[in-house]
Amino acid sequence: MTTDRSSLARVPAAEAQPFRWPADELSHFMLVYKFGLAEIGTKITILAEELAHRGRGNPIEHVNTRLKTVESLTAKAKRINCPMALDLVRARIRDIAGVRIVCSFVSDVYTVADMLTGQQDVTLLQTKDYIAEPKANGYRSLHLIVEIPVFLSDRVVTVPVEVQMRTVAMDFWASLEHKIHYKYEEDVPAALRDELTAAAHESARLDERMERLHAQIHGPRHR
Ligand code: GTP
Ligand code: MG
Repeated sequence: MTTDRSSLARVPAAEAQPFRWPADELSHFMLVYKFGLAEIGTKITILAEELAHRGRGNPIEHVNTRLKTVESLTAKAKRINCPMALDLVRARIRDIAGVRIVCSFVSDVYTVADMLTGQQDVTLLQTKDYIAEPKANGYRSLHLIVEIPVFLSDRVVTVPVEVQMRTVAMDFWASLEHKIHYKYEEDVPAALRDELTAAAHESARLDERMERLHAQIHGPRHR
């Protein structure tokens, strides 16, 4: 399921051009995304620690954050045919700040997603639920684009952050698949591709099994 509530995604495409921004403008542009990551990182830390403190167990196994490099930002702008104009890049590339939250169980993914997106200052712009509807290769994860306010010295800006949420099993599969794609430069042999898809299905079954076991121990409403 994919929903997009943002008008930003509908900015028209145009010819891609090389970066021509002054260095200070570019570094300020990137800085805001770094602050956005810090804000969302704090929110996730608070959720994890508070849930653990309440004795309900910490549903979050680990969290990674990453900021796109200028090189990969430029490459993506070219790929999607986005002109290198500040406003257009801001509007059309919404994964400059990225956070990946790895949870123990599928139910935890949705619980944490609801807690995060339910917060007053968090606006949900887009949901791609590749858990409900896995990609053809078997990839599963919940992808959200959220927007959060960042308070600067003289103004408040809202910053989009891509939040990828998945279980340990989904993460294990995705990181191997990523490495294989990198090694074969997108030209993965068909037999290997099929093996990977079969492994994705197995990992989905494992997630279901672990969820059932977890529910047997703690009850379905636990957490
Ligand atoms: P990008 O332009 O690459 O960001 O993709 P998109 O705009 O089509 O968004 P989507 O939500 O489909 O994917 C965003 C990110 O999810 C990717 O950059 C990857 O980090 C991850 N991802 C999506 N599909 C796969 C997959 O098949 N395998 C792996 N390993 N990661 C994936
Ligand atoms: Mg991306």
